[in-house]
Amino acid sequence: MNDLANKHIVLGLSGGIACYKAAELCRALVKAGASVQVVMSEAAAQFITPVTMQALSNRSVYTSQWDAREPNNMAHINLSREADAILVAPASADFMAKLLHGRADDLLSLMCLARPIAQVPLMLAPAMNREMWQHPATQRNMAQLKADGAFVLDVGQGEQACGETGDGRMLEPEEILADLISHFQPKLLAGQHVLVTAGPTFEKIDPVRGITNLSSGKMGFAIARAAAEAGAQVTLVAGPVSLPTPRGVQRVNVQSALQMQAAVLQHVDAASVFVATAAVADWRVAEVAEHKIKKDGSGDLPVLQFTENPDILAGVAQSERAQSGGLFCVGFAAESHDLLHHAKAKLARKGVPLLVGNIGPATFGQDDNALLLVDAHGSQELPHAHKLVLARQLVAEIARRIRR
Ligand code: CTP
Repeated sequence: MNDLANKHIVLGLSGGIACYKAAELCRALVKAGASVQVVMSEAAAQFITPVTMQALSNRSVYTSQWDAREPNNMAHINLSREADAILVAPASADFMAKLLHGRADDLLSLMCLARPIAQVPLMLAPAMNREMWQHPATQRNMAQLKADGAFVLDVGQGEQACGETGDGRMLEPEEILADLISHFQPKLLAGQHVLVTAGPTFEKIDPVRGITNLSSGKMGFAIARAAAEAGAQVTLVAGPVSLPTPRGVQRVNVQSALQMQAAVLQHVDAASVFVATAAVADWRVAEVAEHKIKKDGSGDLPVLQFTENPDILAGVAQSERAQSGGLFCVGFAAESHDLLHHAKAKLARKGVPLLVGNIGPATFGQDDNALLLVDAHGSQELPHAHKLVLARQLVAEIARRIRR
């Protein structure tokens, strides 16, 4: 995924032990397709060398406003005009205090002050000791920096280099990368609350066995991520999968279809969009054995009785809010053949305004997919692509339909 293709990122480092993570971050930005120009404060160069950052960014690093390499000797102007975004990671308490006052006594602060504020976003990834983070001065500075138009990222929680434990660690490089990528996505679902189901369900047979299916949850997780990137509040009800939770998404873990239904019913009233990607088991075992079913040596085979699971999507789609247009429902159909025919039939049967068909065996567990969108007006193909690319396209289609 070249999510940052054609983006030029100025990566600023102020002084702090989290500078060691900036090396990994630089690498991640380059891998995502960005060109990266590193600017370091004098303090940052105490923690990591410009040589390391040059090697990773493939560009010589700027550390001083007196750098004579620039023909006009105005590195702060030239660097800030070229940038699609300035990302300061780590942003130390001292650096943020400095920014707040509009001080400009080194290249990094000078460049941030000189940036064209309406065109070049400034993102700060704070990193500091927990006491420094909680100090009213830091909290006050952050609030003011946000009011001045900076995007201040969250901090991580956990063990700190000083040996203390608490809030103030810099986010991990992949988290910062995800926040930056998200920043560049159009906010098509701002103000919406999207509820997504994803993954398989697991229906118990006994305490150690169960019935499940091959759904990996990747498509649903990609949709949750794309919706969050588009500015929606997102709740993701996930069956048993070990995928990481997308940034900013509220995740509810469930196992069985009944648990998934309960979680959906708990959250659906707050939602304005419901996307059901989960591969819900159609049946569950009627009586789950209390103890492990053992071979008794007789050769007799165990007999399982099944009962039907509720259809979560159809139930939600029949609700008054969905029927009156207050809740936009999207169904998925995983088929093995005759996709258009089955998708059209399912659109009618589930009573949803949009049904997304895909070929199950071709996509289960894969990173890419192809989708067929079916609604009352006809059908539309979203050709083969990475699931996140398709998820962003689907989000745009949903946004277009709810605006109508
Ligand atoms: N779905 C659901 N609850 C169920 C079964 C399905 O919410 N108990 C949702 C899925 O999340 C998906 C859509 O309904 O959005 C289609 O599911 P699918 O299993 O493909 O369809 P079925 O209704 O089970 O039809 P069939 O088994 O005939 O393909």
